[in-house]
Amino acid sequence: ILLQSLLFHVYGRHQSSSKNILEDSSPFPSDFLFGTASSAYQYEGAFLTDGKSLNNWDVFTHKNPGGRFGEINYLGIKYYSKLIDALISRGIKPFVTLNHMDYPQELENRFQSWLNPEMQNEFGYLANICFKHFGNRVKYWTTLNEPNQQLIIGYLTGKFPPSRCSSPYGNCSQGNSETEPFIAAHNMILAHAKAVNIYQTKYQKEQKGSIGIVVQTSWFEPISDSNADKEAAESAQSFYSNWILDPVIYGKYPKEMVNILGPALPQFSSNEVKNLENSRADFIGINHYTSYFIQDCLTSACNTGHGAFKAEGFALKLDRKGNVSIGELTDVDWQHIDPEGFHKMLNYLKDRYPNIPMFITENGFGDLQKPETTDKELLHDTKRIQYMSGYLEALQAAMRDGANVKGYFVWSLLDNFEWLFGYKVRFGLFHVDLTTLKRTPKQSASWYKNFIEEHVNRR
Ligand code: NOJ
Repeated sequence: ILLQSLLFHVYGRHQSSSKNILEDSSPFPSDFLFGTASSAYQYEGAFLTDGKSLNNWDVFTHKNPGGRFGEINYLGIKYYSKLIDALISRGIKPFVTLNHMDYPQELENRFQSWLNPEMQNEFGYLANICFKHFGNRVKYWTTLNEPNQQLIIGYLTGKFPPSRCSSPYGNCSQGNSETEPFIAAHNMILAHAKAVNIYQTKYQKEQKGSIGIVVQTSWFEPISDSNADKEAAESAQSFYSNWILDPVIYGKYPKEMVNILGPALPQFSSNEVKNLENSRADFIGINHYTSYFIQDCLTSACNTGHGAFKAEGFALKLDRKGNVSIGELTDVDWQHIDPEGFHKMLNYLKDRYPNIPMFITENGFGDLQKPETTDKELLHDTKRIQYMSGYLEALQAAMRDGANVKGYFVWSLLDNFEWLFGYKVRFGLFHVDLTTLKRTPKQSASWYKNFIEEHVNRR
Protein backbone atom coordinates (compact mmCIF):
# COMPACT_ATOMS: atom_id res chain seq x y z
CA ILE A 1 0.00 0.00 0.00
CA LEU A 2 1.34 3.38 -0.91
CA LEU A 3 1.03 5.83 1.90
CA GLN A 4 -1.52 8.50 1.30
CA SER A 5 -1.20 11.33 3.72
CA LEU A 6 -2.13 14.83 4.50
CA LEU A 7 0.36 16.97 6.24
CA PHE A 8 -0.65 20.00 8.15
CA HIS A 9 2.33 22.28 8.37
CA VAL A 10 2.36 23.67 11.81
CA TYR A 11 4.27 26.79 12.56
CA GLY A 12 4.74 29.32 15.22
CA ARG A 13 5.35 27.68 18.56
CA HIS A 14 7.91 28.49 21.17
CA GLN A 15 8.72 31.94 19.92
CA SER A 16 9.46 33.94 23.02
CA SER A 17 9.20 37.63 23.56
CA SER A 18 8.33 39.70 26.58
CA LYS A 19 7.17 42.62 24.46
CA ASN A 20 3.50 43.50 24.83
CA ILE A 21 2.36 44.81 21.47
CA LEU A 22 -1.27 45.21 22.41
CA GLU A 23 -2.75 45.81 25.81
CA ASP A 24 -4.97 42.79 26.22
CA SER A 25 -3.45 39.35 26.35
CA SER A 26 -4.00 36.91 23.53
CA PRO A 27 -6.63 34.21 24.06
CA PHE A 28 -4.31 31.79 22.26
CA PRO A 29 -2.42 29.83 24.95
CA SER A 30 1.30 29.13 24.65
CA ASP A 31 0.77 25.63 23.26
CA PHE A 32 -1.68 26.81 20.58
CA LEU A 33 -0.63 25.66 17.11
CA PHE A 34 -0.87 27.90 14.06
CA GLY A 35 -0.41 26.28 10.69
CA THR A 36 -1.51 25.66 7.15
CA ALA A 37 -3.07 22.57 5.63
CA SER A 38 -2.46 20.64 2.43
CA SER A 39 -3.20 17.18 1.09
CA ALA A 40 -1.37 14.53 -0.90
CA TYR A 41 -3.56 14.29 -3.98
CA GLN A 42 -4.08 18.02 -4.20
CA TYR A 43 -0.32 18.78 -4.02
CA GLU A 44 1.99 16.00 -4.97
CA GLY A 45 1.61 15.01 -8.59
CA ALA A 46 3.93 11.96 -8.84
CA PHE A 47 1.20 10.12 -10.71
CA LEU A 48 2.94 6.73 -10.97
CA THR A 49 6.28 7.66 -9.40
CA ASP A 50 8.31 5.23 -7.25
CA GLY A 51 5.87 2.37 -7.79
CA LYS A 52 2.82 4.34 -6.61
CA SER A 53 -0.29 2.59 -7.89
CA LEU A 54 -3.40 4.28 -9.26
CA ASN A 55 -5.75 5.75 -6.75
CA ASN A 56 -9.46 6.50 -7.12
CA TRP A 57 -8.81 10.12 -8.07
CA ASP A 58 -6.20 9.18 -10.70
CA VAL A 59 -8.82 6.99 -12.30
CA PHE A 60 -11.55 9.62 -11.93
CA THR A 61 -9.45 12.36 -13.50
CA HIS A 62 -7.53 10.25 -16.07
CA LYS A 63 -10.05 7.50 -16.75
CA ASN A 64 -7.50 4.62 -17.01
CA PRO A 65 -7.59 1.95 -14.14
CA GLY A 66 -4.90 -0.51 -12.85
CA GLY A 67 -2.74 -0.82 -9.76
CA ARG A 68 -1.29 -3.25 -7.30
CA PHE A 69 -2.41 -4.56 -4.00
CA GLY A 70 -1.24 -5.62 -0.61
CA GLU A 71 2.45 -4.78 -0.56
CA ILE A 72 4.08 -2.04 1.41
CA ASN A 73 5.68 0.47 -0.91
CA TYR A 74 8.96 1.34 0.83
CA LEU A 75 9.67 4.16 -1.61
CA GLY A 76 6.45 5.74 -0.38
CA ILE A 77 7.59 5.34 3.21
CA LYS A 78 10.95 6.85 2.34
CA TYR A 79 9.29 9.81 0.63
CA TYR A 80 7.08 10.68 3.63
CA SER A 81 9.89 9.99 6.06
CA LYS A 82 12.07 12.55 4.31
CA LEU A 83 9.19 15.00 4.17
CA ILE A 84 8.55 14.64 7.90
CA ASP A 85 12.25 15.11 8.66
CA ALA A 86 12.39 18.19 6.45
CA LEU A 87 9.43 19.75 8.25
CA ILE A 88 10.81 19.03 11.70
CA SER A 89 14.26 20.35 10.80
CA ARG A 90 12.56 23.68 9.96
CA GLY A 91 10.70 23.87 13.27
CA ILE A 92 7.39 22.70 11.81
CA LYS A 93 5.30 20.09 13.58
CA PRO A 94 3.74 17.61 11.15
CA PHE A 95 0.03 16.95 11.72
CA VAL A 96 -0.78 13.93 9.57
CA THR A 97 -4.07 12.68 8.17
CA LEU A 98 -4.17 9.05 7.06
CA ASN A 99 -6.90 9.45 4.45
CA HIS A 100 -7.73 12.64 2.58
CA MET A 101 -10.19 11.55 -0.16
CA ASP A 102 -7.84 9.28 -2.14
CA TYR A 103 -7.18 5.56 -1.71
CA PRO A 104 -5.86 2.85 -4.05
CA GLN A 105 -8.30 2.17 -6.91
CA GLU A 106 -7.62 -1.52 -6.37
CA LEU A 107 -9.73 -1.36 -3.19
CA GLU A 108 -12.65 -0.09 -5.24
CA ASN A 109 -12.18 -2.71 -7.94
CA ARG A 110 -11.79 -5.62 -5.57
CA PHE A 111 -14.53 -5.01 -3.03
CA GLN A 112 -16.17 -1.58 -3.51
CA SER A 113 -14.01 0.12 -0.87
CA TRP A 114 -16.11 1.85 1.78
CA LEU A 115 -19.23 -0.16 1.00
CA ASN A 116 -17.44 -3.24 2.33
CA PRO A 117 -16.46 -3.84 5.99
CA GLU A 118 -13.18 -5.23 4.61
CA MET A 119 -12.14 -1.60 4.21
CA GLN A 120 -11.95 -1.36 8.01
CA ASN A 121 -9.15 -3.94 8.00
CA GLU A 122 -7.36 -2.26 5.10
CA PHE A 123 -7.48 1.04 6.93
CA GLY A 124 -6.20 -0.51 10.14
CA TYR A 125 -3.34 -2.03 8.13
CA LEU A 126 -2.40 1.33 6.63
CA ALA A 127 -2.67 3.08 10.01
CA ASN A 128 -0.42 0.54 11.68
CA ILE A 129 2.27 0.99 9.03
CA CYS A 130 2.17 4.75 9.46
CA PHE A 131 2.32 4.67 13.27
CA LYS A 132 5.18 2.18 13.08
CA HIS A 133 7.31 4.14 10.62
CA PHE A 134 6.48 7.76 11.45
CA GLY A 135 5.12 7.72 14.99
CA ASN A 136 8.51 8.44 16.55
CA ARG A 137 8.30 11.87 14.86
CA VAL A 138 4.61 12.53 14.25
CA LYS A 139 2.71 13.47 17.39
CA TYR A 140 -0.63 14.47 15.86
CA TRP A 141 -2.65 12.03 13.78
CA THR A 142 -6.06 12.22 12.25
CA THR A 143 -7.72 9.21 10.72
CA LEU A 144 -10.13 10.43 8.02
CA ASN A 145 -10.55 13.83 6.47
CA GLU A 146 -14.17 14.90 6.06
CA PRO A 147 -15.84 11.50 5.91
CA ASN A 148 -19.19 13.36 5.83
CA GLN A 149 -18.22 15.19 2.63
CA GLN A 150 -16.75 12.06 1.07
CA LEU A 151 -20.05 10.30 1.72
CA ILE A 152 -22.33 13.01 0.47
CA ILE A 153 -20.40 13.76 -2.70
CA GLY A 154 -19.24 10.20 -3.40
CA TYR A 155 -22.40 8.23 -2.57
CA LEU A 156 -25.35 10.64 -2.37
CA THR A 157 -24.89 13.12 -5.23
CA GLY A 158 -22.22 11.01 -6.93
CA LYS A 159 -20.08 13.94 -8.09
CA PHE A 160 -16.85 12.61 -6.56
CA PRO A 161 -15.49 9.09 -7.03
CA PRO A 162 -16.77 6.41 -6.70
CA SER A 163 -19.60 8.31 -8.52
CA ARG A 164 -22.42 6.33 -6.97
CA CYS A 165 -25.92 7.76 -6.49
CA SER A 166 -29.53 7.48 -7.51
CA SER A 167 -32.26 9.90 -8.47
CA PRO A 168 -33.42 12.42 -7.25
CA TYR A 169 -30.04 13.19 -5.64
CA GLY A 170 -27.92 12.71 -8.70
CA ASN A 171 -27.65 10.99 -12.01
CA CYS A 172 -25.21 8.05 -11.81
CA SER A 173 -25.03 4.76 -13.61
CA GLN A 174 -24.62 2.86 -10.33
CA GLY A 175 -25.38 3.23 -6.64
CA ASN A 176 -28.26 3.94 -4.29
CA SER A 177 -28.42 7.27 -2.47
CA GLU A 178 -31.05 6.00 -0.05
CA THR A 179 -28.79 3.39 1.53
CA GLU A 180 -25.16 3.52 0.39
CA PRO A 181 -24.04 6.77 2.08
CA PHE A 182 -25.07 5.26 5.42
CA ILE A 183 -23.36 1.93 4.80
CA ALA A 184 -20.16 3.69 3.73
CA ALA A 185 -20.37 5.99 6.78
CA HIS A 186 -20.72 3.00 9.06
CA ASN A 187 -17.56 1.45 7.66
CA MET A 188 -15.68 4.74 7.86
CA ILE A 189 -16.65 5.27 11.49
CA LEU A 190 -15.58 1.74 12.41
CA ALA A 191 -12.38 2.07 10.36
CA HIS A 192 -11.60 5.24 12.30
CA ALA A 193 -12.20 3.42 15.59
CA LYS A 194 -9.94 0.60 14.46
CA ALA A 195 -7.06 2.96 13.71
CA VAL A 196 -7.57 4.79 17.01
CA ASN A 197 -7.61 1.49 18.84
CA ILE A 198 -4.35 0.38 17.22
CA TYR A 199 -2.70 3.68 18.11
CA GLN A 200 -4.00 3.85 21.66
CA THR A 201 -3.24 0.25 22.57
CA LYS A 202 0.00 -0.31 20.68
CA TYR A 203 1.79 2.99 20.20
CA GLN A 204 0.46 5.89 22.23
CA LYS A 205 2.17 5.10 25.50
CA GLU A 206 5.59 5.06 23.91
CA GLN A 207 5.10 7.63 21.16
CA LYS A 208 3.11 10.06 23.29
CA GLY A 209 1.03 11.52 20.49
CA SER A 210 -2.69 12.06 20.04
CA ILE A 211 -5.21 10.97 17.43
CA GLY A 212 -8.52 12.36 16.17
CA ILE A 213 -10.79 12.68 13.16
CA VAL A 214 -11.60 15.64 10.89
CA VAL A 215 -15.15 16.57 9.85
CA GLN A 216 -16.49 19.26 7.59
CA THR A 217 -18.78 21.61 9.50
CA SER A 218 -21.14 24.31 8.27
CA TRP A 219 -23.25 26.50 10.49
CA PHE A 220 -26.94 25.88 9.76
CA GLU A 221 -29.01 28.88 10.80
CA PRO A 222 -32.81 28.47 10.99
CA ILE A 223 -34.32 30.84 8.46
CA SER A 224 -37.01 31.93 10.94
CA ASP A 225 -37.73 31.65 14.65
CA SER A 226 -40.38 28.99 14.07
CA ASN A 227 -39.88 25.70 15.89
CA ALA A 228 -40.17 23.85 12.58
CA ASP A 229 -37.24 25.78 11.09
CA LYS A 230 -35.20 25.37 14.28
CA GLU A 231 -35.79 21.62 14.20
CA ALA A 232 -34.89 21.52 10.53
CA ALA A 233 -31.59 23.25 11.31
CA GLU A 234 -30.88 20.71 14.04
CA SER A 235 -31.64 17.87 11.61
CA ALA A 236 -29.26 19.41 9.10
CA GLN A 237 -26.47 19.39 11.74
CA SER A 238 -27.28 15.78 12.50
CA PHE A 239 -27.14 14.74 8.85
CA TYR A 240 -23.79 16.52 8.50
CA SER A 241 -21.13 16.67 11.20
CA ASN A 242 -23.07 15.00 14.04
CA TRP A 243 -23.50 11.99 11.72
CA ILE A 244 -19.83 11.21 12.27
CA LEU A 245 -19.03 12.89 15.56
CA ASP A 246 -21.86 11.40 17.64
CA PRO A 247 -20.79 7.79 16.95
CA VAL A 248 -17.12 8.68 17.35
CA ILE A 249 -17.72 10.33 20.73
CA TYR A 250 -20.85 8.61 22.03
CA GLY A 251 -21.06 5.34 20.09
CA LYS A 252 -24.46 6.11 18.52
CA TYR A 253 -26.05 7.99 15.63
CA PRO A 254 -27.91 11.27 16.23
CA LYS A 255 -31.57 10.78 17.11
CA GLU A 256 -32.78 12.79 14.09
CA MET A 257 -31.06 10.29 11.79
CA VAL A 258 -32.53 7.33 13.65
CA ASN A 259 -36.02 8.84 13.47
CA ILE A 260 -35.90 9.88 9.84
CA LEU A 261 -34.04 6.93 8.35
CA GLY A 262 -35.38 4.06 10.43
CA PRO A 263 -34.01 0.73 9.15
CA ALA A 264 -32.01 2.38 6.35
CA LEU A 265 -29.53 3.41 9.05
CA PRO A 266 -27.15 0.55 9.93
CA GLN A 267 -26.91 -0.33 13.61
CA PHE A 268 -23.77 -0.75 15.67
CA SER A 269 -23.61 -4.19 17.29
CA SER A 270 -22.94 -4.22 21.03
CA ASN A 271 -19.33 -5.17 20.30
CA GLU A 272 -18.94 -2.28 17.90
CA VAL A 273 -20.41 0.12 20.46
CA LYS A 274 -17.84 -1.15 22.93
CA ASN A 275 -15.07 -0.64 20.38
CA LEU A 276 -16.23 2.90 19.71
CA GLU A 277 -16.40 3.68 23.42
CA ASN A 278 -12.98 2.20 24.06
CA SER A 279 -11.37 4.06 21.15
CA ARG A 280 -12.49 7.58 21.85
CA ALA A 281 -10.75 10.21 19.75
CA ASP A 282 -8.29 12.40 21.69
CA PHE A 283 -9.50 15.48 19.77
CA ILE A 284 -11.75 16.46 16.92
CA GLY A 285 -10.61 18.31 13.82
CA ILE A 286 -12.98 20.95 12.47
CA ASN A 287 -12.94 22.12 8.87
CA HIS A 288 -15.13 25.18 8.50
CA TYR A 289 -15.75 27.58 5.64
CA THR A 290 -19.38 28.69 5.45
CA SER A 291 -22.94 28.94 6.80
CA TYR A 292 -26.35 28.26 5.28
CA PHE A 293 -29.91 29.14 6.10
CA ILE A 294 -32.14 26.17 6.73
CA GLN A 295 -35.86 26.06 6.12
CA ASP A 296 -38.26 23.35 7.17
CA CYS A 297 -39.73 21.42 4.26
CA LEU A 298 -41.71 18.89 6.20
CA THR A 299 -44.59 21.04 7.38
CA SER A 300 -44.54 23.70 4.70
CA ALA A 301 -43.82 23.87 1.01
CA CYS A 302 -40.41 25.31 0.35
CA ASN A 303 -38.19 26.11 -2.56
CA THR A 304 -36.05 23.02 -2.82
CA GLY A 305 -33.00 24.93 -4.11
CA HIS A 306 -30.03 22.62 -3.87
CA GLY A 307 -28.60 20.78 -0.93
CA ALA A 308 -27.83 17.40 0.46
CA PHE A 309 -30.75 15.27 1.60
CA LYS A 310 -33.33 17.62 0.14
CA ALA A 311 -35.52 14.66 -0.72
CA GLU A 312 -35.82 13.87 3.00
CA GLY A 313 -37.81 17.09 3.03
CA PHE A 314 -36.55 18.39 6.32
CA ALA A 315 -33.94 20.92 5.42
CA LEU A 316 -33.00 23.25 2.69
CA LYS A 317 -29.90 25.21 1.94
CA LEU A 318 -30.76 28.48 0.29
CA ASP A 319 -27.35 29.10 -1.07
CA ARG A 320 -27.56 29.83 -4.76
CA LYS A 321 -27.34 33.32 -6.16
CA GLY A 322 -30.87 34.69 -6.26
CA ASN A 323 -31.86 32.91 -3.08
CA VAL A 324 -31.43 34.17 0.43
CA SER A 325 -27.75 34.38 1.36
CA ILE A 326 -26.59 34.32 4.96
CA GLY A 327 -23.47 36.34 4.25
CA GLU A 328 -21.67 37.66 1.20
CA LEU A 329 -21.47 34.87 -1.37
CA THR A 330 -17.95 34.56 -2.75
CA ASP A 331 -17.20 33.69 -6.38
CA VAL A 332 -16.92 30.08 -5.24
CA ASP A 333 -20.61 29.36 -5.22
CA TRP A 334 -20.79 27.42 -1.94
CA GLN A 335 -18.87 29.87 0.24
CA HIS A 336 -20.75 32.50 2.24
CA ILE A 337 -18.75 34.79 4.51
CA ASP A 338 -20.28 34.49 7.98
CA PRO A 339 -17.76 34.63 10.86
CA GLU A 340 -20.58 34.77 13.41
CA GLY A 341 -21.68 31.35 12.12
CA PHE A 342 -18.20 30.03 12.95
CA HIS A 343 -18.51 31.44 16.47
CA LYS A 344 -21.91 29.73 16.87
CA MET A 345 -20.58 26.48 15.40
CA LEU A 346 -17.74 26.31 17.91
CA ASN A 347 -20.07 26.98 20.80
CA TYR A 348 -22.46 24.32 19.48
CA LEU A 349 -19.62 21.77 19.33
CA LYS A 350 -18.38 22.79 22.77
CA ASP A 351 -21.84 22.14 24.22
CA ARG A 352 -22.49 18.91 22.32
CA TYR A 353 -19.06 17.36 22.96
CA PRO A 354 -17.95 18.97 26.23
CA ASN A 355 -14.25 19.08 27.02
CA ILE A 356 -12.97 17.38 23.91
CA PRO A 357 -10.10 19.44 22.46
CA MET A 358 -10.69 20.84 18.97
CA PHE A 359 -8.29 21.80 16.22
CA ILE A 360 -9.49 24.01 13.37
CA THR A 361 -7.87 21.81 10.76
CA GLU A 362 -9.07 23.89 7.80
CA ASN A 363 -10.43 27.37 7.24
CA GLY A 364 -9.76 29.51 4.21
CA PHE A 365 -10.96 31.50 1.26
CA GLY A 366 -11.11 30.43 -2.40
CA ASP A 367 -10.54 32.77 -5.34
CA LEU A 368 -12.21 31.76 -8.56
CA GLN A 369 -9.86 32.45 -11.44
CA LYS A 370 -11.88 33.88 -14.32
CA PRO A 371 -10.35 34.34 -17.80
CA GLU A 372 -9.84 38.04 -17.08
CA THR A 373 -8.28 37.59 -13.58
CA THR A 374 -4.68 38.81 -13.43
CA ASP A 375 -1.87 37.46 -11.24
CA LYS A 376 -1.64 40.90 -9.66
CA GLU A 377 -5.22 40.60 -8.47
CA LEU A 378 -4.55 37.13 -7.11
CA LEU A 379 -1.51 38.38 -5.19
CA HIS A 380 -3.37 41.35 -3.68
CA ASP A 381 -5.84 39.08 -1.95
CA THR A 382 -7.55 41.56 0.35
CA LYS A 383 -10.78 39.53 0.40
CA ARG A 384 -8.88 36.55 1.79
CA ILE A 385 -7.35 38.76 4.48
CA GLN A 386 -10.77 40.12 5.38
CA TYR A 387 -12.15 36.60 5.55
CA MET A 388 -9.34 35.27 7.74
CA SER A 389 -9.40 38.26 10.00
CA GLY A 390 -13.17 37.84 10.56
CA TYR A 391 -12.91 34.12 11.21
CA LEU A 392 -9.92 34.48 13.53
CA GLU A 393 -11.85 37.12 15.52
CA ALA A 394 -14.76 34.67 15.77
CA LEU A 395 -12.37 31.94 16.89
CA GLN A 396 -11.05 34.15 19.69
CA ALA A 397 -14.58 35.04 20.76
CA ALA A 398 -15.47 31.32 20.95
CA MET A 399 -12.31 30.60 22.94
CA ARG A 400 -13.24 33.37 25.36
CA ASP A 401 -16.62 31.62 25.70
CA GLY A 402 -14.73 28.49 26.70
CA ALA A 403 -14.30 26.54 23.44
CA ASN A 404 -11.30 24.28 23.94
CA VAL A 405 -9.52 25.01 20.65
CA LYS A 406 -5.88 23.97 20.41
CA GLY A 407 -4.88 25.04 16.93
CA TYR A 408 -5.87 26.80 13.72
CA PHE A 409 -4.65 25.84 10.23
CA VAL A 410 -5.36 27.79 7.08
CA TRP A 411 -6.42 25.94 3.98
CA SER A 412 -4.07 26.21 2.22
CA LEU A 413 -0.33 26.79 2.07
CA LEU A 414 -0.20 26.83 -1.76
CA ASP A 415 -2.70 27.11 -4.59
CA ASN A 416 -3.55 23.52 -5.47
CA PHE A 417 -5.92 21.11 -7.20
CA GLU A 418 -9.40 22.00 -5.94
CA TRP A 419 -11.17 18.77 -6.89
CA LEU A 420 -14.01 19.39 -9.37
CA PHE A 421 -12.87 23.00 -9.81
CA GLY A 422 -9.45 21.80 -10.93
CA TYR A 423 -6.88 24.62 -10.70
CA LYS A 424 -9.45 27.38 -11.24
CA VAL A 425 -10.15 27.87 -7.55
CA ARG A 426 -7.13 29.05 -5.61
CA PHE A 427 -7.01 28.73 -1.83
CA GLY A 428 -3.27 29.31 -1.30
CA LEU A 429 -1.49 31.84 0.88
CA PHE A 430 1.17 31.38 -1.80
CA HIS A 431 0.40 31.84 -5.49
CA VAL A 432 1.56 29.07 -7.82
CA ASP A 433 2.33 29.90 -11.44
CA LEU A 434 0.86 26.87 -13.19
CA THR A 435 3.36 26.99 -16.03
CA THR A 436 6.63 27.56 -14.18
CA LEU A 437 5.44 26.33 -10.75
CA LYS A 438 7.02 29.47 -9.26
CA ARG A 439 5.60 30.22 -5.81
CA THR A 440 4.99 33.79 -4.70
CA PRO A 441 3.63 34.87 -1.33
CA LYS A 442 0.28 36.64 -1.54
CA GLN A 443 -0.51 39.55 0.77
CA SER A 444 -2.38 37.13 3.02
CA ALA A 445 0.84 35.18 3.68
CA SER A 446 2.47 38.18 5.35
CA TRP A 447 -0.79 39.12 7.02
CA TYR A 448 -1.02 35.64 8.61
CA LYS A 449 2.65 35.72 9.60
CA ASN A 450 2.14 39.08 11.33
CA PHE A 451 -1.03 37.88 13.00
CA ILE A 452 0.80 34.88 14.47
CA GLU A 453 3.76 36.98 15.58
CA GLU A 454 1.52 39.52 17.29
CA HIS A 455 -0.32 36.85 19.19
CA VAL A 456 2.79 34.92 20.12
CA ASN A 457 4.23 38.15 21.50
CA ARG A 458 1.10 38.93 23.48
CA ARG A 459 0.94 35.70 25.43
C1 NOJ B 1 -12.04 20.66 2.36
C2 NOJ B 1 -11.12 19.59 1.87
O1 NOJ B 1 -10.59 18.84 2.92
C3 NOJ B 1 -10.03 20.09 0.95
O2 NOJ B 1 -9.54 18.98 0.27
C4 NOJ B 1 -10.59 21.16 0.03
O3 NOJ B 1 -9.66 21.53 -0.93
C5 NOJ B 1 -11.00 22.35 0.86
N1 NOJ B 1 -11.98 21.95 1.85
C6 NOJ B 1 -11.56 23.52 0.07
O4 NOJ B 1 -12.71 23.14 -0.60
